[in-house]
Amino acid sequence: MSFELLDGKALSLTIKEEIKEKVDQIKEKNLRPPHLSAVLVGNNPASESYMKNKVKSCDVVGFTSDLIRRDSDATEADILSIVHDLNKDDGVDGFIVQLPLPDHIDSEKILLAIDPSKDVDGFHPHNFGCMAQGLDCYLPATPYGILLMIERHNIETSGKHVVVIGRSNIVGTPLSILLSRKTDVGNATVTLVHSRTKDLSSITRQADILISAIGKPFYVTADMVKDNAVVIDVGINRIDDLSRKSGSRLVGDVDFEKVSLKSSYITPVPGGVGPMTVVALMLNTLSAYNKKLS
Ligand code: GUN
Repeated sequence: MSFELLDGKALSLTIKEEIKEKVDQIKEKNLRPPHLSAVLVGNNPASESYMKNKVKSCDVVGFTSDLIRRDSDATEADILSIVHDLNKDDGVDGFIVQLPLPDHIDSEKILLAIDPSKDVDGFHPHNFGCMAQGLDCYLPATPYGILLMIERHNIETSGKHVVVIGRSNIVGTPLSILLSRKTDVGNATVTLVHSRTKDLSSITRQADILISAIGKPFYVTADMVKDNAVVIDVGINRIDDLSRKSGSRLVGDVDFEKVSLKSSYITPVPGGVGPMTVVALMLNTLSAYNKKLS
């Protein structure tokens, strides 16, 4: 069976070009471009790499951005103070605090302090609640990126059985809500499976669209997937690979080599969902800017 690759890298370039055209129109009117700020605490290698991509993408689409860095021994009060300053700064349309934060900082407290109108990650309970009720809000970046990917490839979701593996607040839970809403790229019958699910494979095998967001390398094997399924891999896991100069490589949650042979569509890792998350963040930042200026 031949599969079609859901190439997030290529699609993200197309959408970034569309965003850039809108930003060019803003600049032609002599208005300032949208501005995204980002807060990075410590030097978690994965966070460093995500952050680099986010800042680079701002450049590509014509946004201005700034990265506020603090060492891993920064206090909760330090980070709260940065958040309060960003909330007040009229030159900042949206900002993100990269997760995970060091253990001594209460992430929930930090996220709650972010002004929901600048919460372009869509992590604040205000935005989450609006999302769940179908009200105007910033959608969380990874689920939003996945919806865009499904939409732009004209993959039907209405009436389909979607199985989401993993119930995190930032991916699995919001995705399960979004895909079951009465909207385009919705109307699916969604099952959310997790660590306490019994006979998980018997459920994943029923999926027309299988989405894994569990963070375990090669967790989804070919026997867990129905023939012709659409497979979306949210996992970004680093594994040892001594054949590489770096000694490691990134893989998803899905055993791509074997699962792809049964799939109709499948995302690669890297180059699948990751770039779409960044594009979704750019779209939310543009929305934050437009809301403020309209
Ligand atoms: N850590 C992993 N993914 C994300 C994300 O989308 N946003 C933030 N702020 N932190 C993350």
